[in-house]
Amino acid sequence: MASASPATDWWRTAVIYQVYPRSFADSNGDGVGDLPGVTSRLGALKDLGVDAIWLSPFMTSPQHDAGYDVADYCDVDPLFGTLADFDDMRDAAHGLGLKVVIDLVPNHSSSDHRWFQEALAAGPGSEERARYIFREGKGKRGELPPNNWDSVFGGPAWTRITESDGTPGPWYLHLFDISQPDFDWTNPWVHEQFRNILRFWLERGVDGFRVDVAHGLVKVAGLPDYTPAPGGSMGGDTSDAPYWAQDGVHEIYRDWHRVLAEFGPDRILTAEAWVKPLSKLTDWVRPDEMQQAFNFGYLETPWDAISLRKVVDASLEAFGSVGAPSTWVLSNHDVIRHTSRLALTPPPLQGAGIGPDTQPKPDDAVGLRRARAATAFMLALPGSAYIYQGEELGLPEAIDLPDAARQDPTFFRTGGELYGRDGCRVPIPWEADAPASGFNTTGASWLPQPASWPLYARDAQVGVPGSTLEFYRDALALRSEHALGAADIDWLEFDDADVIGFRSGAVTVIANTGAGTVELPAGRIVLCSGEAGDGLLPGDTTVWILAAAG
Ligand code: GLC
Repeated sequence: MASASPATDWWRTAVIYQVYPRSFADSNGDGVGDLPGVTSRLGALKDLGVDAIWLSPFMTSPQHDAGYDVADYCDVDPLFGTLADFDDMRDAAHGLGLKVVIDLVPNHSSSDHRWFQEALAAGPGSEERARYIFREGKGKRGELPPNNWDSVFGGPAWTRITESDGTPGPWYLHLFDISQPDFDWTNPWVHEQFRNILRFWLERGVDGFRVDVAHGLVKVAGLPDYTPAPGGSMGGDTSDAPYWAQDGVHEIYRDWHRVLAEFGPDRILTAEAWVKPLSKLTDWVRPDEMQQAFNFGYLETPWDAISLRKVVDASLEAFGSVGAPSTWVLSNHDVIRHTSRLALTPPPLQGAGIGPDTQPKPDDAVGLRRARAATAFMLALPGSAYIYQGEELGLPEAIDLPDAARQDPTFFRTGGELYGRDGCRVPIPWEADAPASGFNTTGASWLPQPASWPLYARDAQVGVPGSTLEFYRDALALRSEHALGAADIDWLEFDDADVIGFRSGAVTVIANTGAGTVELPAGRIVLCSGEAGDGLLPGDTTVWILAAAG
């Protein structure tokens, strides 16, 4: 493990909690969470034991993709508050010793952004048009899209514009929603704008950026046709796509690395890059690029000892080879919560979601049991771990959302064929007996909360032995006490193919991914994801053990 300076290398071992602002805490009761809401609840995160928070976008946006369609990178959307509210939140977080990471969306802006509106108005051949990817259509009258690319959210990745004189114009590229035009990163002007945006937020004291679609900014010149292999998804087998993972993106991150360094040695960039294999993903975290990359290969690994061993080995080797820590993540705002996902074999593709018609439905009890076991395994691994809001409460995916309530563009762009990601984005419960389970005081909620939410409320779990919340708190406290994030691991070998385990300093971690019961070595159990007694480890359970003498 690379030698770490605790002050500047905090991110090598940090546990980072993802706040999804619109669903975290709502201070003004309009049904959408906001920054003052985040500020008011930071104490609970400190108490949980995390080191940092990452906030999904709260910048000015028409919210066609829940804020990942940014119309002003340097302001706060009134839905979430003001820049002053951000400053208050940052001060409160820093006062509690929590780092603050924000989301940066550089692949595309909102079509409402002044830059795009100016590009439309300025007309063909203008400097303004060159900010985005406009191309003439094919066909006799340009009536066909410039190439065959599909949007990640379904439907074509191109939309034709109408010029101000009413004539049909060229098409613009949007790898995501129609309201998210892709920037043209061959244009130095775009580079300059993003350096300014980075500096704006660094001066405002943020500790880092989670970089959205960090594998997408550069496209192959000429924009050649591409047909993905069947079954691909945003995270699927699209490694040969002419819009993902092009070498040119790395020069951008080297440039940003230098911008961050102007502000000291401890600010970070984290890549959201759905890139395979891991040995390619780690190009994003070479010493002069980003500090972290989400390990989605780990997120997509089934709850199975053999697969887990493979992905952990491959991750430690790949990240280690460039001197970066591995990250570990099981849930976020784009995937089915792991409490439900791990009870589905096989799980649907990333982004597809589940809903009322999904069969079979995940069993909540099985899912929670596996999720806690998977979390106990993850939090013992060396490197940095991510937690998505609500997983510490054991929240399942909200499956029975009515179609009329859905908001994810995936649902609309696939004509309802894919449910999309709303099920993991429902406002979280704080108090069992309060309106909207304490999300606010009015009971309003931008997505309806399931009837079961009060059972998962934080106040129903605080101090309750065996609750998921107390289990997370214990795990994080022990992880910190034994410095597991900074340790090297030694695998233990088992006869049973369902069992996986390792030693990390004084702690022995054993996970049983099967259904049978296995014998445990001697020692004191300091953490158990379920119930282990009499030296026996039941199925779908993970324990942390201290050697008898320890
Ligand atoms: C990222 C975000 C996702 C968003 C997409 C487009 O994958 O995590 O929520 O829809 O980028 O910005």
